[in-house]
Amino acid sequence: MTTDRTTDGTAAGIEVNPVAGHIGAEITGVDLAGDLDDAQVAAVRAAVLRWKVVFFRGQELDHAGHVAFARRFGELVVLGRRGKASPPDVPEIETTADRLELGGRFGMEHEEWLQRRRHTLLRGWHCDHGARVDPPAATILRAEAVPPYGGDTTWSNLAAAYAGLSAPVREFVDGLRAEHRLGVGYQPRPGDDAYVRHLLDHQVASVHPLVRVHPETGERVLFVNGYYLEQIADISRAESRAILDMLLEQAVRPEYTVRFRWEPGSVAFWDNRATIHLAPSDNAHLGFPRIMHRVMLAGDVPVGVDGKPSEPIAGTRPGRW
Ligand code: SIN
Repeated sequence: MTTDRTTDGTAAGIEVNPVAGHIGAEITGVDLAGDLDDAQVAAVRAAVLRWKVVFFRGQELDHAGHVAFARRFGELVVLGRRGKASPPDVPEIETTADRLELGGRFGMEHEEWLQRRRHTLLRGWHCDHGARVDPPAATILRAEAVPPYGGDTTWSNLAAAYAGLSAPVREFVDGLRAEHRLGVGYQPRPGDDAYVRHLLDHQVASVHPLVRVHPETGERVLFVNGYYLEQIADISRAESRAILDMLLEQAVRPEYTVRFRWEPGSVAFWDNRATIHLAPSDNAHLGFPRIMHRVMLAGDVPVGVDGKPSEPIAGTRPGRW
């Protein structure tokens, strides 16, 4: 029996140390700013696929180095719209220093923005751009400045959550599909609401399988999140709500999660097809800067257990950002 303490990463001088039972490994022995050889790239890729999110500490990446590292793993996403703090000359990088400004664009304080968006406890859990017909395959997030306490990120392993369902429930959900939509559950402000207008003008929605087959590992993944998931197709809203509540609770049970304490120079690399994550909401009131830089790898159109791909409903075409 293997302990999974390390993968073949040791051969590349890389050590992979799992940090939780189902998800998360810390990788040492590699300088992400250096020229990685093919064995190192293969070892990191294997660790991401096995542990769903991997962490590196003490890295000295700049924007160009971040992009160069990410390119070793696939084609990069270039967003049509990015936050104001993003570097104008590096279109692959999105910087989230301006997270507190979200809402301000639509005439709201940050707190009101969060309150109106997060109408349930599980609502902040998401995969990146999950309402697109081709959500990114992976995200590589780099910390530049972080608060001395607070500001952790948490991830959950959706393949393990699926495997943890009982066999009859797995069989039941295998055949379902669901609509994912940007802005689900947002509670409009009374009167004219600039954010509602924005959502209507920039609709993004797709029908995805509720269980997707991972294109690289072949694992079945419970494709749920608390952010984009609108409604299971072909059943009543009441039935859909009850089933989604049950599946979301399963998806974020503590045993399927890992929580990461950031330091400046930390990097997290996650499989966006097999995880959801929760950005922190315990740091805004502290007033410390939290500056994060994100690069995403382009992803495939998900495919269900029946072999059927996801379908676009609005505002999304494969490969077109
Ligand atoms: C995200 O939610 O995509 C970013 C996570 C973080 O800033 O912790």
